[in-house]
Parts: sequence; structure tokens; C-alpha cells
Amino acid sequence: MDHESLRAQFPALQQQLGDYPLCYLDTAATSQKPLQVLEAMESFYRTHNANVHRAAHALSSKATSAYEDVRDALVNFLGAARREEIIFTHGTTEAINLVAHGLRGQFNAGDLILVDSAAHHANLVPWQQLAKATGTRVLPIGLDAELRLDRTAFRALLAQKPKLVALSQVSNALGTVNDIQALCAEARAHGAMTLVDGAQAVAHMPVNMAELGCDFYAFSGHKMYGPTGVGVLWGRYDLLAGLEPLLTGGEMIKTVSFEQTEFGELPNRLEAGTPPIAEVIGLGAAIEFLQTQDREALMQHEAGLLNYLQRELAAIPGIHLYAAHPDNIGAVAFNFGDEHHQDIGILLDQQGVAVRCGHHCAMPLMGLLGVRGCCRASLGIYSNKADVDQFIQAMKACADMLQ
Ligand SMILES: Cc1ncc(COP(=O)(O)O)c(C=O)c1O
Repeated sequence: MDHESLRAQFPALQQQLGDYPLCYLDTAATSQKPLQVLEAMESFYRTHNANVHRAAHALSSKATSAYEDVRDALVNFLGAARREEIIFTHGTTEAINLVAHGLRGQFNAGDLILVDSAAHHANLVPWQQLAKATGTRVLPIGLDAELRLDRTAFRALLAQKPKLVALSQVSNALGTVNDIQALCAEARAHGAMTLVDGAQAVAHMPVNMAELGCDFYAFSGHKMYGPTGVGVLWGRYDLLAGLEPLLTGGEMIKTVSFEQTEFGELPNRLEAGTPPIAEVIGLGAAIEFLQTQDREALMQHEAGLLNYLQRELAAIPGIHLYAAHPDNIGAVAFNFGDEHHQDIGILLDQQGVAVRCGHHCAMPLMGLLGVRGCCRASLGIYSNKADVDQFIQAMKACADMLQ
């Protein structure tokens, strides 16, 4: 793999911040974008910008084809059974809200939803809202001593016959990985629906819906080298068809009169209003970009780099790593002594290093760690050893300054 030429395709990475080259270790928050994505979006606006699905004219039909082609690309990317199972959203958050809102009519007082303790708020708060509206209970699935999902606790909770289990595939805060295939199989055996938050997975590994065995899968374009403002909800056709639409209005209807409205078929039924057309096209370019890479080699590259990062960071006296397992993906979480994570972030920033500091939209998890927040360094396919070395050197300088 020619990693240098891959990295060269990300223009934002080729910049200096004062005396330092940019060391971008915040890919879990949002990834940088390759030229292919930037060019696809610009070309759409320059040459065939029009609204989709609505007009007979040539530009609109080109825009519609380009938009719908991305749905087909996603069928292939996700191993979906049919194109109607792909719903464009504005991101993971909207995708999960779409399901949690859409299922309200199917939940009753006393029903149970299980949520991964490491879940991002986007995969917790919508279930709490559903619970508030229906009297359903939401319970956390605990973590074991290694801060991985506790399989024994999970089994005990499954015995209570939950109606739905919401899991993250990869924790955005820790980088820990859930065995989705096994967890979904267990949940299904107990009659539960499953929703998987794949926001931190799709950029790092190929995913296949048939193999994972979940019922719903959500992710964002901007974390997988695509643009912001677009995400995807995949769901089993019958389950998607049973969702009450979150948004209603144009595009999603079959017939409308003042007396009544009949909703249209999937996927339009769940895509009310003008969709993020250029962003969908940008996402299509990101998928094409990823699919033309040697993904196996990239996974090995990222795994090697993450392990190197974990080792080098752990060797700095005063550093505390959280759940830094060798099989983690994409991110390492840490604190330094009793220093506030934001202070570390500011000191690193002064040396050109971008990391994320805070609760990582996982406050319940921070509670389990016994901290208010932490720093997180996260990697993408473009990250290299020079990034890690610059970060480690900057962290050592912080340590010297603060001790
Ligand atoms: C695991 C996970 N789920 C959900 C989200 C929310 O994604 P978005 O803000 O793109 O909707 C994020 C973003 O950080 C995430 O990391």
C-alpha cells in the first residue's frame, strides 16, 4: 500500500499550524475528506444541481439518478437485501431518532429496552424519549472489569424479554468493539429487535448487514470520509415499513387531500422534504473511495498504529489509559494525572495536535469510569506514524510542563 499517496488525497491534512504540521487525531469526531468527495460535490453544484424526484427536466433527472445511484452503492456497501432498505438521513442521530420515534406505537408501559452502557447519547436519549412517551423502561447493559459489554449481565437482562436492544459497534469514547454478530443473535433468540450504531465502525471495517444480523443499522457520512449533513439508516424492509414517519410533508406521500393523506412507499416514506442531495452524492464518492482501497491493508495499518499509540502513551508517567485493549478500533481515551482534560487539549493544540476532550457524548460511561471527561486521540486511514510521534512528543512536553 502506498500510504503517502493515499494521505496526499486529503488536502486539509497538508497544513501547518504555526510552527507545527497539523496532527489531526480527531477523526472519530469527524474525518477529513478526500479530493474525490470534494470534487464530486463541487461538480454536482457546478453541472447538474437540481432538486430530485420532482421535475421532468434533464437536470433534475440527472440529479435524481446521481442521488439514487448512491442508494444502489449502499446496497452493495452494506450487503443489503434491497434498495428500499436504505434511508438517507442527516446523520446517525437522525437515523436513531427516526427508529425510536417510528416505533412508539409498538411499545407499551412495562416494555423494556436495553442500551449499551458505552452508548453515545444519540443511541440513548431517543430511547429515553420513547420511554417517556410510552411508559417503557430503559436499562443499561453493564460493563465488565475490562470495560467491555458484560455478557453475563446481558444474558440476565435478556431473560427479562426486552423488546429492543440498542448497541454500539465501536465505542466512540473508548474504541472498544462489541461482537455485534453474537450479541444480535442472542437478542434475536430472546425475541428482541436490535439497533446498531455503526457511526464509529463503517470507516474502519467492512460491514455486512446479513452477517451482522441486526434489524437496524445507523451511521453518518462525515465519519467515513464523506460530508457532514448526511447519514444512513438501514433496516429490514418489514420493520422499516412499520415505522411511523418522524417527518411528514413533501416527497413522502402518495395522495394528499384536506381530509386525509396517504403516505408513500419506502424509501420515500421516510425521506420527507428535499434531501441533502449534494451530500448524498459526496457520500457516494466516499463509498467509491473506500471501496477502491485495499481495506484489509488499511485495517492492518490502523490496528498497528493504534497499538503503537497505546504503547507509547502508556509509557508516559502519569498517563492513565481507559480500556486500551489491543483489539480496539480507532481511538484511545486517556487522562494525565489530576489535570483537567481540557487543559491537556489546549496544550496539545498549541503544538499542532488536535484531540477531543470532554465527555464524548457518553456521560453515563464517564460516570462508570469515575471521571467527568477525558482526552481522546482517534485515527483514520490517513493517520501515520509521524502523527503519533508528534502527538507523543507533544504529550511529553505537556507532562514536563505540568509536573
Ligand atoms: C458512536 C456515535 N454515535 C452517534 C454519533 C452521532 O453522530 P452524528 O452527530 O453524525 O449524528 C456519533 C458522533 O460522534 C458517534 O460517535
